[in-house]
Amino acid sequence: MKITIVGTGYVGLVTGTTFAEIGHEVLCIDNDEKKIQKLMRLEMPIYEEGLEDMVKRNFNAGRLRFSTSIKEGTEFATVIFIAVGTPPGYKGEANMSYVERVGREVAENMKSYRLLVEKSTVIVNTNQQLKRTMNKYLEDDIPFDVASNPEFLREGTAIKDAFHPDRIVVGVESQRASKLLREIYEPIVKKSNCEYLEMNIASAELTKHAANSFLAMKISFINAVSRICEMTGADIKQVAHGIGLDGRIGKSFLYAGVGYGGSCFPKDVDAFIRMGDELGYSLNVLKEVQKININQREHMMRKLQHELWVLEDKVIAVLGLAFKPGTDDVRESPALYFVPQLIERKAKLRLWDPIAKEKFSELHPGLSYFDTPLECCQEADAVLILTEWPEVKELNLKKLKEVLKVPIVIDGRNVFEPTDMQKHGFIYKCVGREPVGLPDKK
Ligand code: UGA
Repeated sequence: MKITIVGTGYVGLVTGTTFAEIGHEVLCIDNDEKKIQKLMRLEMPIYEEGLEDMVKRNFNAGRLRFSTSIKEGTEFATVIFIAVGTPPGYKGEANMSYVERVGREVAENMKSYRLLVEKSTVIVNTNQQLKRTMNKYLEDDIPFDVASNPEFLREGTAIKDAFHPDRIVVGVESQRASKLLREIYEPIVKKSNCEYLEMNIASAELTKHAANSFLAMKISFINAVSRICEMTGADIKQVAHGIGLDGRIGKSFLYAGVGYGGSCFPKDVDAFIRMGDELGYSLNVLKEVQKININQREHMMRKLQHELWVLEDKVIAVLGLAFKPGTDDVRESPALYFVPQLIERKAKLRLWDPIAKEKFSELHPGLSYFDTPLECCQEADAVLILTEWPEVKELNLKKLKEVLKVPIVIDGRNVFEPTDMQKHGFIYKCVGREPVGLPDKK
């Protein structure tokens, strides 16, 4: 089937390429001319494992094309997916202007039936606004449908997630839309044997926001428990394992750390809270989730400050700039919180990340970036671990100790075992686990 995807960010590009890979003919649109030109030269605007090969393969096979014209996209396919950004607006609500513009431009250019599918994360009942907008801009009485098909891909494992989803959620209100979307997803459903859930549009829209908010809540919950662990001598890894084996709770998303980041959880939790407030139902539980998340970062900063006493002129090696491993995305990454704070306190920073260095240095040019974690840690007074990259997990602790000026490691991702760190003579503070090597314990 012919499919148009508007928006070639993480979601749009992965979705479009996946559709091409399963045999559809896909046209990906973006209004960022530079990005489209890059893609036409087969250069990737983002890092996502496996994406480049798949884009090349499908582009060369003629199943995947790129353009900047929504008019072209509207003429090309009956089904048009909206995968544009919904960044936070000035009050924290999701900015829907890009979504609205796609609706408007499709309406102005369509000559026969079109199905507009919301792929971007939107507030419940956005479909109604979209329909109203389309009706306003349609010149003739051309039929159309709006549907919701929220995306559950995780950055870093997006390709795998696309071919093996836990479920596919589709919100439709006509047979025609239902048939088209079933046809698109049939190869994935058949191959992965995943559940294909069809529901009304509001339910599909809400499913996405509720899923992300629930996952953020799980993370904040375990982070809150980690604080209790720190006060009582309990160990968060053991507690998380103990509760995660209960099938009703589940093992995943129980890793305590420096808090969640990325382009989704912070923005979606915020937008969900605002939606509740507007509806007159305060989602206090999510307000607390946000507070815990921010507090987790502040708490880690206090740990560093406590160890070093004065931060001015101290050399601090920051390991990890991406919001999680496997991606070059630095949006809402912990490093974007710590780096400015440390600069303000006049610390001397040495930074490392295997993939996100470039994106981070666009926001923080003029800082010192290194190619390996060990180089980065050279002569440092402390190491701050913010992303659990494999290169950090595999660090040779003996060598690490040798290159540091002072063997202080503040670990926001619980990468190492406190007992190992103690054996190697580190002062080691992590999250929700017994700290080691403190002078008053000697
Ligand atoms: C998240 C959801 O997991 C996807 O299902 C969803 O499609 C996506 O948002 C989206 O809305 O587009 P993503 O932001 O790529 O995906 O990353 P996650 O793997 O969910 O991690 C989010 C943050 O939570 C990261 O900062 C990660 O370090 C943190 N995290 C995750 C924890 O601190 N502890 C955990 O146990 C799990």
